[in-house]
Amino acid sequence: MKQRLVFATNNAHKLQEVRQILGDAFEVVSLEEIGCRDDIPETEPTLEGNALLKARWVASHYGCSCFADDTGLEVEALGGAPGVRSARYAASEGEPGHDSEANMRLLLKNLRGVADRRARFRTVMALVRDNGEEVTVSGRVEGKIIEAPRGTDGFGYDPVFVPEGDTRTFAEMTAEEKNAVSHRRRATEALLRVL
Ligand code: IMP
Repeated sequence: MKQRLVFATNNAHKLQEVRQILGDAFEVVSLEEIGCRDDIPETEPTLEGNALLKARWVASHYGCSCFADDTGLEVEALGGAPGVRSARYAASEGEPGHDSEANMRLLLKNLRGVADRRARFRTVMALVRDNGEEVTVSGRVEGKIIEAPRGTDGFGYDPVFVPEGDTRTFAEMTAEEKNAVSHRRRATEALLRVL
């Protein structure tokens, strides 16, 4: 029988990617599919803490095994920022705008004149089983932040991130090319190993 797992997301792209990686042995269902419309808290100061908070919330309120993810862009010269605050970087620093454009603008401003451009995307996935067992795994992709955005595909910080071993930004790659090396893929593969 297939193992049923809730993935604490309603993002169709993430669902499709994760279903494909985990394969036929698992039935992966979204929050919507279990009727969860809760405003799940993401108040922890780390990616691990937030992923666990979300997975625990769903597992305890809905009596199921659940995994949740949290991703951040960690920039070496900024001491790991924006990290857990990646989605709301500009807003959290009092800059105007709440979107990816504003976040990238602030990132490039904070890195102006900085020679060390090393950065990584890191995804943490937390699994909380219906028997209370908890596991966290992570996946990362190393790379660098360029000086000005390039490319139109993808989302978030993709136009300013060039993964190691390539010269293109994530936004200049097809979804397949990006997904083949992405932080989320690596975290999902790590999750598969503990399932
Ligand atoms: P989430 O945890 O997947 O919601 O990601 C948090 C934030 O990290 C997003 O709002 C984006 O700003 C950024 N982010 C996550 N994954 C990616 C990616 O693959 N490319 C670019 N930015 C990303």
